[in-house]
Amino acid sequence: MKRSEWGSRVGFVLAAIGSAIGLGNIWRFPYLCYENGGGAFLIPYLVALFTAGIPLLILEFGVGHERIGSAPLAFRKIGKQWEWLGWWPLLFTMFGIVLYYSVVIAWCIDFLFYSVKLAWGADSEAFFFKQFLQVSSGPTEISTIRTPILFGLLAVWALTWVIIMRGVSKGVELANMIFMPLLFVLTLVLVFWSLNLEGSMTGIVAYLKPDFSKLMDPKVWVSAYGQIFFTLSLGFGIMITYASYMPEKSNMTGSALITALVNSGFSLISGFGVFSILGFMATTQNVPVDEVVKESIGLAFIVYPKAISMIGDFGPMFGMLFFLSLTVAGVSSAISIVEAFASGLEDKFSINRKMLATLLCFLGFTGGVIFTTNGGLFWLDIVDHFINNYGLVLAGILECIVVGWFFNLDQIRKHLNKVSKIQLGPWWNWIIKLFLPLSLSVILLNQLIRELT
Ligand code: PHE
Ligand code: NA
Repeated sequence: MKRSEWGSRVGFVLAAIGSAIGLGNIWRFPYLCYENGGGAFLIPYLVALFTAGIPLLILEFGVGHERIGSAPLAFRKIGKQWEWLGWWPLLFTMFGIVLYYSVVIAWCIDFLFYSVKLAWGADSEAFFFKQFLQVSSGPTEISTIRTPILFGLLAVWALTWVIIMRGVSKGVELANMIFMPLLFVLTLVLVFWSLNLEGSMTGIVAYLKPDFSKLMDPKVWVSAYGQIFFTLSLGFGIMITYASYMPEKSNMTGSALITALVNSGFSLISGFGVFSILGFMATTQNVPVDEVVKESIGLAFIVYPKAISMIGDFGPMFGMLFFLSLTVAGVSSAISIVEAFASGLEDKFSINRKMLATLLCFLGFTGGVIFTTNGGLFWLDIVDHFINNYGLVLAGILECIVVGWFFNLDQIRKHLNKVSKIQLGPWWNWIIKLFLPLSLSVILLNQLIRELT
C-alpha cells in the first residue's frame, strides 16, 4: 500500500501550524508571560525558541522526512532497539494529553453556546466552578458526570473521527486549510476589537513592561523551555509523522522555520488581545491588572466571560468569536495527536485506517469521561503537570541522544541540506548532540529538585 501524502507544501505547513497553534498559545502563553516578568519573559522565551525549539523541530522534520515513517517506524529504521522511543510519547499524548485537552475544547464549545445569552450572569467565577464544573472536594470524590461537558466532548471526538477517517490529504490537510485561515481572521478581529476597548493600554503595559529581576529566577527559564516544547508539539512524534507524509523533494528546513515563527508570532499577537481585555477589566473595576488574573484556566473561562458581559451589546458576538477560535485551534491540535498515533499503528500492523480512526476516537472519548466528572479538574491538573514538566523534556533529551549519538546525524543534516534552500552548518549537530541534552537535563533536574524540596 502506498504511504499517505500531503497534496501540497502549503497543506503540510498549515497542518504543522495547526498542530502547533492550540489552547497553549491563546491562554497559556500570555499567562506565563505575565507571571514571569512581563516583557522580560520574551527573552527566555525567544532564547528557548532559537536554541531548542527551532533546532528540534528541524530535527523532527528531518527524521520523519529522511526515514519516511511515523515516529515508531522512523526510530525503528534508525535501529530496532529504538522503536519504543517512538511509541511511548505517542502513548503519553494519546492517553495523557489528548484526553484532557479534548475536555478543555469541550468547555470551549459549551461556552460558545453560553455566550449567546451570557449565561454566566454576574459572578462568572461561581458559575465556572460551582455551576459548570461542580468541582468536588478532591480527585477521589467523583459522583456525577457533567452532561454539558460530555456532549461537548462527544462533538469534539465526532469531528476528530470524521477528519481522521478521511485520511491525510482529504481529512487532516483539508481541515487545516479551512481551520487555519479562519483562525487567523478570527484572531485578528478579536485583537483589534480588544485594542479599542477602554483601558487596553494599561493591559498592554503590564504585558510588555519588563521586570528584569525575574531573569535570575531559574523557574522562569524552566517555564520558557517547557512552553516551547508544548507550543511546538515537540517530543511527541507528531512532527516526525507529519514530515513523513511530505513527498521527496521539499524545503523541510524552511517549513520548520515558518512553522516555528508563525506559531510564536501568533502567541505574541494574541497576547495583545488577552492583555487588552485584562486592562479593560482593571480600568472598569478600578483595580490593578494583577488582581484580574488568577490562574490560566480562569483567564479563558472566568476573566473573559466577565469582560464579555461588560462589553455591552456586542458581548455575545465577542464571546462566540473567542470560544470559536479556541475550539478551532484546539481541534486542529487534537487531530494531530490522534493522527500520529493512528499512523504509528498503520505503519506497524497495516490495519485499515478507518478502523483505527474509529477505535482511537472511541477510546479517546471514553477515556476522557473521567475529566468530565466533578472531580475532573483535579485529574486535569495532575496529568498536565507530569506530562508537561517531565514527559516532554525527557522525550526531547532521548531524541537528541539517540539520533545524535547512535545514528549518523550528519546523514539527516545532509538530507535536509539537499532538499532545502536554507543550509544547516555543523553547528546544528552540536546543538543536538551536546547543547540540548545538557541544557535540558539541567532544566529537568532543577524542576525535580524544586518539587522534592
Ligand atoms: N501545541 C499545542 C498547543 O500549543 C498543544 C499540543 C501538544 C498539540 C501536544 C499537540 C500535541 O496548544
Ligand atoms: Na502552540
